[in-house]
Amino acid sequence: MNSDRRITNLIITGFSGTGKSLVAMEVAQGLNWDFLDTDDEIVRQTGKPIAEIFSQDGEARFRELERETIRKACQQRQTVIAIGGGAIVDTQNYELLAKTGLIVCLEAKPETIYERLFREAAYSTETEVRPLLANDNPLERIRQLKASRQPYYAKANWTIHTDGLSVSEVAEEVIRASRLLRRYTPRNDREKARNDRVKARNDREKARSGIDKDIACLVETETQSYPVFVGYGLLDKLGEKMKKAALSGTATIISDENVFSLYGSKVAGILKDAGFAVNSFVVPPGEETKSMDYAIKIYDFLVERRAERDDIIVALGGGMVGDLAGFVAATFLRGMPWIQVPTSLVAMVDASIGGKVGVNHPEGKNLIGAFYQPNLVLADCQILTTLPKREMTSGWAEVIKHGLILDKEFVQFLESNVNKLTKLEPELLTRAIARSAAIKAQVVSQDEKEREGKRTILNYGHTIAHGLEAATWYKHFLHGEAVAIGMVGAAKLSQRLGLLPSAAVEHQQALLQKFGLPTGFSGLGLTEITRAMELDKKTKGKAIRWVLLRDIGKVVILSDMPQRDVLAVLQELAEP
Ligand SMILES: NC(=O)c1ccc[n+]([C@@H]2O[C@H](COP(=O)([O-])OP(=O)(O)OC[C@H]3O[C@@H](n4cnc5c(N)ncnc54)[C@H](O)[C@@H]3O)[C@@H](O)[C@H]2O)c1
Ligand SMILES: [Zn+2]
Repeated sequence: MNSDRRITNLIITGFSGTGKSLVAMEVAQGLNWDFLDTDDEIVRQTGKPIAEIFSQDGEARFRELERETIRKACQQRQTVIAIGGGAIVDTQNYELLAKTGLIVCLEAKPETIYERLFREAAYSTETEVRPLLANDNPLERIRQLKASRQPYYAKANWTIHTDGLSVSEVAEEVIRASRLLRRYTPRNDREKARNDRVKARNDREKARSGIDKDIACLVETETQSYPVFVGYGLLDKLGEKMKKAALSGTATIISDENVFSLYGSKVAGILKDAGFAVNSFVVPPGEETKSMDYAIKIYDFLVERRAERDDIIVALGGGMVGDLAGFVAATFLRGMPWIQVPTSLVAMVDASIGGKVGVNHPEGKNLIGAFYQPNLVLADCQILTTLPKREMTSGWAEVIKHGLILDKEFVQFLESNVNKLTKLEPELLTRAIARSAAIKAQVVSQDEKEREGKRTILNYGHTIAHGLEAATWYKHFLHGEAVAIGMVGAAKLSQRLGLLPSAAVEHQQALLQKFGLPTGFSGLGLTEITRAMELDKKTKGKAIRWVLLRDIGKVVILSDMPQRDVLAVLQELAEP
């Protein structure tokens, strides 16, 4: 039996088709706890299928039975409880559940839910399935019902994005989350009171010294100085931070469907509580959305809503949303205040800092844009718990890059904590993101508009990366994956020029691999890559400037490398 008494039960909530019951069963097995499904309990007690209770006795009767079953379930200990998709909407249920256990919500996109409910018999045993499927337009109905429940699902202690994951993978995530949460959940009221006292003391000290401890760094450019806040669970303070930054009026949240479905209603609620009027504009996820077409759609929306010059744009999402929303903020009414709430690792440590905003042109990425700094950046590292794993891994490449170019000690920190960092251990994750963001902030503060050449060092690994990305039509690699390979290439090139010892090259390569990043490629011709690199150079109208290393944490910039050396390095990167 599990000996941890801090957590009495684990509650699994989420919409139908997210696999609550199967996942809960597997989690119970993994933890050696008991398992209970409230819908099954109701069927057992009444001797009737749920659909029959709905049709014969009505939904109100079902909810009554559900409340009673939940009340009894909450008296259990060390039980994994799967609850019906609508149970958490009831305040009484929620309060009872939250008091007796940790609540984990399983998320999935409406399309995934639709697919699963129709195609995968294993998922189709739940309460709401029949009425949903009987509807004329089930996908739309799923969308609506799910949207109306989202504010309640948002109250969970943890959310897991299940799209593309198997039941076992989701169960593993739940177990991981429960371990992390246990460590960060006060054992009892006394512990909570002690934590509150410590927090109040820290806040008083902060107030006396005038320093906000959530500030990871300041970006100080000629056009704007602004704070970058980094913390775990920091989202709750967004409204407060915005007010302190003298922002007021209407906030228009711009987000993509993935992120908005997870955090949209929560962020809107936080902003409303802080006194902002809130609008939102949601775009499809993916790089194709970063276009003039979508910028125009957002302009239209702002015109329609009569947005004013001191209203605020809130970019809630990964780098794609940040670049697009920032571009709109830079250009609409000749510039509106805007803030970044980055939700991907890439966005937190890279895209949200430095004010590069823009959209793609069919002829090239980021060809249309501006330098336009936000008023603040707020990164809540807890949000990364729902970021798909491959996106997370890709983001580590930019974090590691920041260490490799400027901070040897940070590289050592990353190295000593790989396991905890990749498991998103809150305290270390926050430290890593804060440091990485601070390095980017330091560089862009010295060279806001990339005129002095100082910002170039951020392109370590990017020359080969761009070649790899362009040669594969941006379809094969995530950016960070290409950067990881590119960094190995740049290190090897540095070694060929006698700048870097081979031990340092291997050291860097091993670190990237530990974070799950690729360090070579296959199935690509070398000339395709070099041609793409040449094309990239032509589009930008500049000679290629190679960022190389002379030690971990120390860079040198050299122009135009002999083709022979570049080819030799690419050859080494090409895996047989
Ligand atoms: N402005 C800059 O300085 C700068 C720097 C680097 C990259 N960029 C740009 O950023 C973009 C890449 O950013 P990205 O890697 O964040 O890609 P992205 O914004 O496309 O996000 C990747 C995917 O993750 C999803 N996602 C994001 N946060 C999530 C979360 N917390 N939970 C679940 N899903 C989540 C998104 O919906 C998307 O599907 C590119 O357009 C690139 O050009 C800009
Ligand atoms: Zn990059």
